[in-house]
Amino acid sequence: MYSLKEIFERVQVIFEHERFIFDPKELYEPIDYTLRLGGKRLRPALLLTVNQMMGGDIRQAEGAALGIETFHNFTLLHDDIMDKSPLRRGKPTVWTQWNANTAILSGDTMYAMAWRYFLRTDHPNLRGILNCFNETAIEVCEGQQYDMNFESSTDVTLDRYIMMICKKTAVLLAGAMKIGAMYAGCRDTDLEHIYNCGINMGLAFQIQDDLLDSYGNQATFGKPIGQDIRDNKKTYMILKALELSPSSDRETIKAIYDNPHHNEKSVSEVINLYDRLCVKDSAEKEVARLMNAAETELHEIKASDVMKQPLIDMIDMLIGRKR
Ligand code: IPE
Ligand code: IPE
Ligand code: MG
Ligand code: MG
Ligand code: MG
Repeated sequence: MYSLKEIFERVQVIFEHERFIFDPKELYEPIDYTLRLGGKRLRPALLLTVNQMMGGDIRQAEGAALGIETFHNFTLLHDDIMDKSPLRRGKPTVWTQWNANTAILSGDTMYAMAWRYFLRTDHPNLRGILNCFNETAIEVCEGQQYDMNFESSTDVTLDRYIMMICKKTAVLLAGAMKIGAMYAGCRDTDLEHIYNCGINMGLAFQIQDDLLDSYGNQATFGKPIGQDIRDNKKTYMILKALELSPSSDRETIKAIYDNPHHNEKSVSEVINLYDRLCVKDSAEKEVARLMNAAETELHEIKASDVMKQPLIDMIDMLIGRKR
């Protein structure tokens, strides 16, 4: 049995053994740049962790692990164009280092490569697995569209926000976990608990990402601080700030936030508002609450405590993450 640390090491090795440079190099270099930069490799680690938890042989799920991470990295290439973000993993984003056309086409290629990785290992239920992957991918796109729509909307509620992050972020963590379980031949009721566990983890993960966008340290977070504010994103932070402020202040706050030309001073003004309303505390409490809900789902799953430990360690690792 692998510990969580050993699973992350295994994921590292799988990527090290993979070759990403082919001709034409203009297409593949940005792919190599992105996949070698790594990031946390959370989704493949979750896939393998759950596969092991449900009694799978993780070697059989390694293609899917590569596939899910390659898909995730594709979404980042396009997301950074959409969000006009200059920095990721502490390095220039592909669209700034090369150009937007490159980020689009290399991204498209990565999506197709993801399918190739998935098809690497056969499985009696490969059709069900690929269906899960594909439905997840469609939902991520829906979530990304809501995220974009909300930029120019002034009446987004916290409920709508949760719906949006469920699609853009949570379904991919949940899908990775479900696919890991499917590779292990897992039963229906367990699959449902595993998926719900992943959704709660994913919601918490995105709220923490929103928090770090204002309160993170750029050197560790690897992304520009305040980007969500500059993009007028409807994050947990601003929606909670609106909820916590007197209704008489709300229109003024919206006007400050939805500034189309934010500068350093106006971004600080928004973060000062978060400080005054203790929005960071609220976000941390919500992350903890959702991670607890994830653990509650985990208790329902029929596997031994020993086998569940790596996933519990993952939840603990994600609470209070800094990158
Ligand atoms: C970034 O995901 C996109 C979000 C869903 C917030 P990660 O934070 O997992 O990015 P990497 O892969 O570790 O860089
Ligand atoms: C991430 O949302 C969702 C996807 C990439 C699908 P963000 O836009 O918040 O992610 P970061 O902060 O750029 O990583
Ligand atoms: Mg982004
Ligand atoms: Mg985005
Ligand atoms: Mg973000």
